[in-house]
Amino acid sequence: MKRTTFLLVFGLILSFCQAQSETGAEEAAGEEEQHVELFTTPVTKMGAATSDFGYNLFRVLASREAATNIFLAPISASAVLTQLSMGGSERAERQLFRALRYHTLQDPQLHNTLKDLLLSVKTPGKGLSMAARIYLARRLRVTQDFFTLVEGQYGVRPKALLGGARDMKDINDWVTQETGGKVQRFLTKPLPRNPGVNAVSAAYFKGKWVTRFGESRVLQNFQVDGGASIRIPMMQQDSYPVKMGADSDLSCTIAQIAMQDDVSMFIFLPDEVTSNMTLLEESLTAEFVQDLSLTLLPAQVFLSLPALRLSYSTDLLPLLGDLGLAEWLEDQDLEKISAQPTKLSSVNHKVVMETAPEGNQYPSVAATPSHLSYRVDHPFLYLIRDEASGALLFIGRVVNPKDLTI
Ligand SMILES: *[C@@H]1O[C@H](CO)[C@@H](O)[C@H](O)[C@H]1NC(C)=O
Repeated sequence: MKRTTFLLVFGLILSFCQAQSETGAEEAAGEEEQHVELFTTPVTKMGAATSDFGYNLFRVLASREAATNIFLAPISASAVLTQLSMGGSERAERQLFRALRYHTLQDPQLHNTLKDLLLSVKTPGKGLSMAARIYLARRLRVTQDFFTLVEGQYGVRPKALLGGARDMKDINDWVTQETGGKVQRFLTKPLPRNPGVNAVSAAYFKGKWVTRFGESRVLQNFQVDGGASIRIPMMQQDSYPVKMGADSDLSCTIAQIAMQDDVSMFIFLPDEVTSNMTLLEESLTAEFVQDLSLTLLPAQVFLSLPALRLSYSTDLLPLLGDLGLAEWLEDQDLEKISAQPTKLSSVNHKVVMETAPEGNQYPSVAATPSHLSYRVDHPFLYLIRDEASGALLFIGRVVNPKDLTI
């Protein structure tokens, strides 16, 4: 309730600014009509499920890696763990599906729905490329049916490793190829030498804005939690059309910035300079983000946003226990992969993301500068969402942009 009231008051301020710019108001009306009802079709329900898995994964990682930069492309992790589920017993499948949030879908065509979703978010204009594949240790006697099943469904064939240093090169080359050369050095050390199953997932994101930024790399101050401010390159633009709102419960201001091909970036900027975003992290769900997006109001702002170039990698295996898979990890039942008892030995994940000032529209030049500004100049959280399906493509917490490099 409190939240609604605050947004209404905020809305009045915004509509005042809006009234001064006729063109802005028309654009906003156009966007409204395009809005797709979420959670009603099999693909959007699947979008919500993969997002909820993604938020859970992010939360677990965020709580383990307090006060650091972290990034995930959860949809690629959903893809590879779903491939893995095809190698499990009924019990294993049930447990994995629960962690992946598929259990509420009651979708008899689940794999086809996921395949459709993955294809739609990978359309080139959206700027996302990804890789997801199961690699099986050399010493494992693998059931051929598993290869055929996964390849038939997802178009990517699990691969038996040869053992030794060649494997690392083989996996890295494949990931690089699948991501258009953007995700390099996926593995930096050889895989564990046990006869296990390795789940590989990676993604590269570089979306284009709808509205371009005039200034691309102006050095600006960024206030780090508990430290001096640092100088980082920012993209800047006056009269930039965004959707905006404030959340008094979470003490942050939210901006939604449109990207091409029906993708958007949501930025959650805490009111205070803090790297502790626990409260915010805890509230993220597909439904929360969807409800929130419906309350955001169009505004033209002076926008300044860090020019991000980042790469991040982690092994998700230690996180799975906190996603309700602790019991499954003890006894994995991957009987359709091999008759020998086998286990997951790694779930490596690597993401690369870049932002660029490009967009195919120029902001409408207002006679007077924007009344509002949105300066992303201290730690923040962001997510990239495919608006058509509601699927979470990318999520990150930026605590210190100086530490980010590709
Ligand atoms: C982070 O904030 C939450 C509540 O907002 C608090 O409970 C927690 O103790 C904080 N964590 C740290 C490390 O300060």
